[in-house]
Amino acid sequence: MTEIAIFGYGTVGSGVAEVIGQNAAQIAQRCGGLHVKYILDLREFPGDPYEDRIVHDAAPIYADPEIKVICETMGGATFAYDYTKRALSAGISVCTSNKELVELHGAELSRMAKEHGCSYLFEASVGGGIPLIRTITQALTAERIDCICGILNGTTNYILHRMETGGLDFETALKEAQDMGYAEKDPTADIEGHDPCRKIAILASLVCGKKLDYNDIPMEGISSITLKDLAYAWALDGTVKLIAKSEFSEDGCRAIVSPRVVTQDNPLYSVKDVFNAVLIHSNMLDDSMYYGRGAGKLATASAVVGDAVECAQNAGRTVECGWSEEKLALADCDELKQKYLVRVKRDAAAKAKEILSAERELLVTEELLAGKIPAGVLDASAFSDEEALVSACMTEREFKKKIAQTDGVIHWIRM
Ligand code: HSE
Repeated sequence: MTEIAIFGYGTVGSGVAEVIGQNAAQIAQRCGGLHVKYILDLREFPGDPYEDRIVHDAAPIYADPEIKVICETMGGATFAYDYTKRALSAGISVCTSNKELVELHGAELSRMAKEHGCSYLFEASVGGGIPLIRTITQALTAERIDCICGILNGTTNYILHRMETGGLDFETALKEAQDMGYAEKDPTADIEGHDPCRKIAILASLVCGKKLDYNDIPMEGISSITLKDLAYAWALDGTVKLIAKSEFSEDGCRAIVSPRVVTQDNPLYSVKDVFNAVLIHSNMLDDSMYYGRGAGKLATASAVVGDAVECAQNAGRTVECGWSEEKLALADCDELKQKYLVRVKRDAAAKAKEILSAERELLVTEELLAGKIPAGVLDASAFSDEEALVSACMTEREFKKKIAQTDGVIHWIRM
């Protein structure tokens, strides 16, 4: 039996206790069992089944030689950083769901764990319960990964899904996501792309074994996406998704987070609701896809507990993820190539098609709308003074130059 402590008894922390309680037999079979000895939180939890384990001071936990693993589910990068360093310095392994801390200090904390003969594991920090970190650091170690592309934020996927299925505008869909408890306290991190950006930074760092700063990644959220944008995507047999993408080649790593038109031939098209999915392309395996609940109490807690099981199985050793503190400089993201969906004013459309070497023109008809959204939400007359086109495939650099020369642009989205 391995004695553990939980730091932070909020949604994920209480989920950790619940997973350990409910799946005790499976966990025992794999590592001899986990037992929650302490739960650190500022609050009291009268009537909670783990009420007797609640403590408010971390010092005795580090000093208790029985404690081998701490599940850090506090969130944030200040107190959690300090608590994690103190735990690792005491030789106690730490398993976390804290993507902010992992993105900022994961490489340093992994080094500290190694120095003190313990582990720092963070499966739950990206994609909730979907095993993505282990996939990259353990399962695909014989592969050369050349692209990771995915939906790494459940809230924005839900918002886009509800705009599409309910004909809701962005603000109403966001409010619904908040009422459902999906959006973070401050929805900015989700809707403006910071959350998926941190997650792709972690995944790309692990592929390269170096530290990628998420602030270096070009990022765009979904707050500017409208039902009209979606309608043009439907005209292409597609939809709009917030996509986090990273490409790896001999000249380096490129990453970007932005809304994209995803067509039905892409497996990410079918990822609806709050689900996440990541498509990895590697040189031997080809495409592989990982799909599941990227957030939520038990899904996320399950990944934290899975890490705790691995720490228990490797007591006295370090489970390494091959992440060094060397900074990874992003290669020039303006070299990324794709097509673009561009909406322009009707009187400027002919010139725009010429400048952007349009491959296709898009029309929104009553029939198209009727098959997609509830009646009366949006009709084809709303599109009477605009058109849309699909540009030729070109680099971001080339496109930015051309779009700056194009008059009457209403909005554009990468494909
Ligand atoms: N706010 C995140 C999401 C939670 O919506 O995916 C999980 O990191």
